[in-house]
Amino acid sequence: MPAPRETAVYTHGHHESVLRSHTWRTAANSAAYLLGVLRPDMRILDIGCGPGTITADLASLVPDGHVTGLDRAPGVLEQARATAAGRGLANTSFTVGNVHALDFPDDTFCVVHAHQVLQHVGDPVRALREMGRVTRPGGYIAVRDADYAAMTWYPPSRGMDDWLELYRRVARANGGEPDAGRRLKSWALAAGLTDVTAGSGTWTFSTDEERAWWSGLWADRTVASAYAGRAVEQGHATGGQLRAAAQAWREWGARDDGWFSVLHGEILCRKEA
Ligand SMILES: C[S@@+](CC[C@H](N)C(=O)[O-])C[C@H]1O[C@@H](n2cnc3c(N)ncnc32)[C@H](O)[C@@H]1O
Repeated sequence: MPAPRETAVYTHGHHESVLRSHTWRTAANSAAYLLGVLRPDMRILDIGCGPGTITADLASLVPDGHVTGLDRAPGVLEQARATAAGRGLANTSFTVGNVHALDFPDDTFCVVHAHQVLQHVGDPVRALREMGRVTRPGGYIAVRDADYAAMTWYPPSRGMDDWLELYRRVARANGGEPDAGRRLKSWALAAGLTDVTAGSGTWTFSTDEERAWWSGLWADRTVASAYAGRAVEQGHATGGQLRAAAQAWREWGARDDGWFSVLHGEILCRKEA
């Protein structure tokens, strides 16, 4: 089968303001729906592992097994390797790859995991088919993605509404699907996966510290990440509109009564034994 051309551009890139968010992630806050099926000797593939904090947590949960972190971007894998080395983990390895055409034989892994990846890829159904192919019979395919249209916050803000509308437009123009969470089950069924458990999970940001962190990183990435460059280059927004969106984030973050919830779709699929 010829290697597919990746049609999507990864919306966020790996600017410091983006990695500030990704490195906060843990298996507990981002993969809790998966943890109950893990066994100490499992072999796991973590696709789109980014800077690798979830990857490293998974590795510590399979001390007699192994975790392979895979990402399309070689640069961020250096950070993932450093994360694993810094925690003294000997059961990890990292490789460049593309979820649409995984360079592994059929039936290789006990668990194939992807967190916040399928929303960014050109063909999520093909990606899930590939994930299923490299999963062992009886093993699991585990996927979690945010659903941007379902993000909700208080107090209401026209500037934040504009930010969300713009983000979704840019992500779609990049070839992705920002409202991925609600679609995961349907993509899994279209990929031929049969034993699919579909659920949901949330992140909530409300305390002073949480609001300062969440609003600060979104304000910064709105004006300084790869997203900002694409938004302007493609004519979706002017620099002034991006600065206004960043300001709306900061104003939300300064509100004592501010509250923000991110809804995620989650699927745990068992490959037929
Ligand atoms: C939003 S980040 C998620 C990182 C990590 N899973 C986490 O949750 O912290 C998405 C990652 O997927 C990678 N990615 C995007 N398209 C990919 C593809 N087609 N194949 C493999 N990785 C891809 C990006 O380079 C990026 O590091």
